[in-house]
Amino acid sequence: MASKTVFITGAAAGIGRKAAVSFARKGYTVGGYDIDEVGLKSLKDEIEDLGGTAVVGHLNVTDADEFAERLAEFTATTGGRLDVLVNNAGILVAGKFEELKIATIHREIDINTKGVANGLHAAFPYLKATKGSVAISMASASAIYGQAELASYSATKHYVRAITEALDIEWGSYGIRLAAIWPLYVQTAMTENIKTGTTDSLGIKLGPQDVADVIVKAAEPGLYSKLTHQIHWTVGTQTALLAMGSRFSPIWLTRLVNKRLAHGGH
Ligand SMILES: NC(=O)c1ccc[n+]([C@@H]2O[C@H](COP(=O)([O-])OP(=O)(O)OC[C@H]3O[C@@H](n4cnc5c(N)ncnc54)[C@H](O)[C@@H]3O)[C@@H](O)[C@H]2O)c1
Repeated sequence: MASKTVFITGAAAGIGRKAAVSFARKGYTVGGYDIDEVGLKSLKDEIEDLGGTAVVGHLNVTDADEFAERLAEFTATTGGRLDVLVNNAGILVAGKFEELKIATIHREIDINTKGVANGLHAAFPYLKATKGSVAISMASASAIYGQAELASYSATKHYVRAITEALDIEWGSYGIRLAAIWPLYVQTAMTENIKTGTTDSLGIKLGPQDVADVIVKAAEPGLYSKLTHQIHWTVGTQTALLAMGSRFSPIWLTRLVNKRLAHGGH
């Protein structure tokens, strides 16, 4: 099989779906996986209507065995080739930590962290076998500094940040690159009913296509990004400014800025 291939989790809706269609437009064979099989069917139709190729199937990213099976099935159709893995599936739980059910917090940790570990672990042999491969995972602006009212979500995105940085070093010798994508709030189903201090103070300004465009860029970096071995990809000006600010300011100031932003319109 000559075309490049991408395996995307959480592909039925939101950012994952836009990324799937964007890769298809570039000629990639797209593997779209999700727990929402109705959404996947319409994704497959959308890609095929564009003249693209899509393989879709059920995958709950928290199930390591199912993840390995879906990857084996997908790569069986691509001659073993896996150019890009996109660990996109994730959920967001907002609210005061002590008021959330512990089972809800555990579910968020399972999907957002174990789901990413499962994907990276299962995809490793295929990424290793494919020259120039990259594993991309969805971090978030909440990986810059712990976020009030999103405490556990923000902690899961710090996990994504760290595992991306670490494996990029470990797997460099196999020719595998890693990348993390850092959007601030994006208008998807995830943020539809979310209201926190920072949604008030910062707004929800990005659309899912803005993020998908950056995912595709991270998969196919330009010369400058290649030369600087870019791992972290911010989306939008607000995140770029917040990330830059936290890099150059003392930790007490970063805390103060985050505290002010968290109080938003409250
Ligand atoms: N929307 C935002 O504001 C925002 C900001 C920063 C980062 N992100 C991250 O981007 C990613 C995608 O978010 P989105 O806004 O597109 O969300 P979304 O809710 O619109 O879509 C998420 C998709 O993931 C699927 N999914 C949920 N649990 C799953 C599981 N266990 N296994 C497989 N699929 C599962 C859902 O069915 C859905 O299709 C997430 O990792 C999220 O944390 C989102």
